[in-house]
Amino acid sequence: MENEQKKVMLSGIQPSGALHLGNYLGPLRHWPRMIEEFDCYFFLADMHTITVRQDPAALRKQTITLLATYIACGLDPEKCTLFIQSHVHQHAELAWVLSCYSMFGELSRMTQFKDKSARHSENVNAGLFTYPVLMAADILLYQPDFVPVGDDQKQHVELCRNVAERFNGIYGDVLKVPEPYIAKVGARIKSLNSPEGKMSKSQPEGCVFLLDTPEDIARKFKRAVTDSDTENCVRFDPEAKPGVSNLMQIYAAATGKTYEEIEAEFQGQGYGVFKPKVGEAVIETLRPIREETQRLLKDKSYLEGVYRAGAERASAVAERTLRKVYKKVGFIQR
Ligand code: TYM
Repeated sequence: MENEQKKVMLSGIQPSGALHLGNYLGPLRHWPRMIEEFDCYFFLADMHTITVRQDPAALRKQTITLLATYIACGLDPEKCTLFIQSHVHQHAELAWVLSCYSMFGELSRMTQFKDKSARHSENVNAGLFTYPVLMAADILLYQPDFVPVGDDQKQHVELCRNVAERFNGIYGDVLKVPEPYIAKVGARIKSLNSPEGKMSKSQPEGCVFLLDTPEDIARKFKRAVTDSDTENCVRFDPEAKPGVSNLMQIYAAATGKTYEEIEAEFQGQGYGVFKPKVGEAVIETLRPIREETQRLLKDKSYLEGVYRAGAERASAVAERTLRKVYKKVGFIQR
């Protein structure tokens, strides 16, 4: 009864590698708060990962590790629905229908498709191209009000809105059109060694992983690229000082401090003092998550129980939407 009044929220992360600080500080750290207020669905987007070749054993391991990490971050499976995308077959089915309402031109404009097809030029497969349609299906099946993501996924959520509006324009009010939900601080964490690009697992040198040891994290922050100005002063200016501003964004997200407070804290002190402090703040933020993930990973049967129950709950909701869509487009009900 209570759930019927709550707004719905949904998001997912690809288990294509270890989770990194961008995934955490961008969307994930906000999710535990949301489960108190919203009816939340969080899933592991394993079907998305195979647009790029994966080692099957590694993918299985990463999927379970990511599930444990979700829980370790505070996503209590009793209070939200946690599931693995490939366990809910309706995602692939709705994606097919929606692909017939998605235009070649709009998919060709997706920045991530352009980037990934350039990076994996030996494997520009159809899945890489239609990936945003699967993402639209992931979302629309659950009729969420909000989709919390980092800045790089905004374009895909907008495409999802366009597809839903096009479908509704033909068949009436069938699909809820969701809003992206993008936090101000942390929405685009940059690489530590080349702050012009986003932090990403495909650039592991500039990337801090959630399960990195404290020693590794400290080393990565000590080596972080700061700017080639002569100022040596901690000041937020993403244009002129992208490296320092990125570290400030990380520090702000990890500590909850504002940019003004950070500037005041490090006034008169150079990058040599600031960088290790950011490292320490990140180590302390991630320590409990790493320890809890490792503890949970020892309890495989608990994790199995979580994803089984999650898939059951998710399937029931997904099936309702799929039936409605099938009926609207004219498929005969069995
Ligand atoms: P993925 O797995 O690349 O990233 C997961 C989430 O982390 C955010 N993110 C970042 N935020 C800030 N700074 C960064 N450097 C950074 N890198 C990644 C992403 O914006 C994302 O929110 N297509 C999605 C997964 C997905 C999905 C969905 C998300 C599939 N279906 C439906 C929401 C709803 C993806 O590849 O995210």
